This record gives sequence, C-alpha cells and structure tokens, in this order.
Amino acid sequence: MKRKFDTLIVTGGAGFIGSNFIRYLFEKAGFEGKVINLDALTYAGNLESTEDIFRRFGGKRYFFEKADIGDRPSVEAIFGKYKPDAVVHLAAESHVDRSILGPEAFIRTNVMGTFTLLDVARNAWKDRNDVLFHHVSTDEVFGSLGDSGYFSEDTSYDPRSPYSASKASSDHLVMAYHHTYGLPITLSNCSNNYGPNQFPEKLVPLMILNMLEGKPLPVYGDGKNIRDWLFVEDHNSAVWAIMRDGESGRSYNIGGENEWENIKLLDCLIELVAEASGTPPAQFRSLVHYVKDRPGHDRRYAIDCSRLKKELGWKQEHSFDSGLRLTVGWYLANKPWCDRVRSGAYRNWLEENYTAR
Ligand code: NAD
Ligand code: TYD
Repeated sequence: MKRKFDTLIVTGGAGFIGSNFIRYLFEKAGFEGKVINLDALTYAGNLESTEDIFRRFGGKRYFFEKADIGDRPSVEAIFGKYKPDAVVHLAAESHVDRSILGPEAFIRTNVMGTFTLLDVARNAWKDRNDVLFHHVSTDEVFGSLGDSGYFSEDTSYDPRSPYSASKASSDHLVMAYHHTYGLPITLSNCSNNYGPNQFPEKLVPLMILNMLEGKPLPVYGDGKNIRDWLFVEDHNSAVWAIMRDGESGRSYNIGGENEWENIKLLDCLIELVAEASGTPPAQFRSLVHYVKDRPGHDRRYAIDCSRLKKELGWKQEHSFDSGLRLTVGWYLANKPWCDRVRSGAYRNWLEENYTAR
C-alpha cells in the first residue's frame, strides 16, 4: 500500500537536509521520478551541495527553481509548470541564534511562507487526493525536558525560541489545512541532525572548522545542555518512509535515541578531528571557551520514536561513531565549500556576534 510519486517538489533543497534528501532520493531510495528543487538561495542555500545531482540528472529528472515560498505567483507558476504530486517542505530559517537576533525572517518564511505553500497546494490539488504535502519540522516545538522523559507525538507544544515558535505555527497550519480542507499531509518532528553540507553556524560543523582554524570553541552556558543526535541520511530515510507509508493527517517523531551533553559531544569531535588531522587533542582542548548562555536555552531534547519504528519499520543505519567520522572526514575534505558558504556577510555577522557574547 505504499504511495508512489512521479514528481516531487522539495523546498529548501539547496540547504543541509534538503540537499542530502535529494541525493538520498536519487542514490538510495530507488525513486524513479522527477525532483524540483524550489529554493530562494538565502545565506544557507548553496547549489554546490547538489552539483553532482545536477550534472547527472539536470534537465531530465532534476530541476532547480529559484523562488521564495512566500511569493505566491512564483509558487503557483512552479505548480502549474511541473504539476507535482507531492511536496516535501524543508525550506525554513533554521538557526535558533539568528532567530534571537532577528525573528522577523523566521515569521516571514516559516509561518507566512508555509501558509502560502499550503494554500497554493490546496488550490492546485483541489480535485486530487493522490497527492501529499509532507512537512519537515523539529522536536524543538515541544519545548525543554528535565532530566527524564521523552517527547512523544502526544506531547503538548511549548516552543521557547522565535525559531521553535515559528516552526510550531507552521505545524499547526499544516494540521489545520488537513482538518479544514482535507489536504493530504504527513508531518515529522526530528531531533538534531549532523552530517555533510551543514552550514557551519550549527554546533558540529562550527566546532570542526574552528578547530582546523585554531579559533575558540564557544560552549554556551555550562555545556551540559542535551541534544539527541541523528545522522542526516537517517532523518531522510525516515521522511521517505513516512511519505510512502505514513497515515495522512498524522505526525511522526524522528530521533537518534542518542543523547549527548554538548561538552561530551565536543570531546568526541576533538578526538576525531585530532586523529584525522594528526594534531594532539590537547591543542584543541585549549581552545574550549565557555561563553555567555543562549537566552532561553532549552535544557534537554529527547525523542520517543517508537511510532515510526513500530508502525513503519524504520531504523537508523549509521552509528554515532560512523556518522561523526564520516562528517569530520567530509569537512576536512571540503574546506573550499566551507570557505565559500561562509564568505562575505555571514563572516561579518559571526565575528560581530562572537565579540558581543
Ligand atoms: P538550512 O538552513 O540548512 O536550509 C534551509 C534552506 O531553505 C536553504 O537552502 C535556504 O536557501 C532555503 N530557504 C530559506 N528561506 C526560504 C524561502 N523563503 N523560500 C525558499 N527557500 C528558502 O536548514 P536545514 O538544517 O537543512 O533544515 C531543513 C528543515 O528541517 C527546516 O525546516 C528545519 O526546521 C528542519 N529541521 C532541521 C533540523 C536540523 O538539525 N538541522 C532538525 C529537525 C528539523
Ligand atoms: P545548534 O547546532 O544551534 O542546534 P539547536 O539549537 O537547534 O539545538 O546547537 C546545538 C547545541 O549546542 C545547543 O544546546 C546550543 C549549543 N551550542 C554551543 O554551545 N555553542 C555554539 O557555538 C553553538 C552554535 C551551539
């Protein structure tokens, strides 16, 4: 009873998870249809991340459309041109620190943009029910856990940052479009991802690059905040399983069952980068630098993903050790990618905010 799709719109396909999702479709999922990557190419979007796919499938099974999800005429034109039977919605402003400094873009893209996309899909698909809108969301909508307990699909929403509040709003809109207009939807809430092509403002790539460049490794607060880490390809295999097999109108939690205090994760990264670069770990340890805590910093995230495992038979393929090794190796081998995505405006922003902390 698995769904089949011919033409998928992937929003945010030039970003971290989206580019890996497109690669997963072409290389691992056995998908034989067309993919339209709809992306505005903000600071976080980079077409280099899908260049290999473009070279192999461009103009035949892979298409790129530069558009803002909030720009209704453009989104309508893309729906009209390709007549998709599914949308995988990943486009978003995604970094918590940026949402604290400038929340407006998060409301514009994550709330208004998702609304526009949903509304265009509803109109384009009004006579069809063999379609699907899959919304990719985060566990951060559930708020912060204490020392025990897990987020399940029944946990009440309790977002604490402008980022998580904007994602929570988008989740509610997706559910509302299902209940009110009958739009076929599935929704996933995933824990922290790591892997290749992640923009180096997030913890894992930022720490790897700072080590390589001899820069301070900024640890927020006491370093004991806990995140549940999942390799990006395992997130994407879960999204694909939900799209093919998940029940319309339902949400699924995705997680790595892999909780780490930030400081302990940093310790693993130090060991791996030291090994890969032939540097004594003590040299990197001397760069660890405790800085002022993030305002409203959620203490612990942990996911109960038993619905996904039991009902859809999903399991992760990558151990934390193999996934982290692969990630460290990727960043060491792709320094030019990192330099290019971090050039210009981002570098200035980062430097200003480092000194402000
Ligand atoms: P990212 O920041 O790396 O990429 C976001 C992409 O969206 C970029 O290519 C950007 O150009 C594009 N984009 C931004 N605004 C847009 C707009 N208005 N119109 C069109 N495109 C736009 O993000 P990511 O880490 O790949 O996250 C993808 C999705 O997964 C997000 O919805 C995020 O909330 C969710 N998510 C991320 C994580 C994580 O750990 N990174 C975990 C769970 C869920
Ligand atoms: P991040 O990668 O920004 O993801 P999120 O905030 O969505 O979980 O941060 C992961 C954790 O690492 C979070 O607890 C904040 C912390 N952190 C640092 O200690 N230092 C840093 O420089 C960054 C970017 C994050």
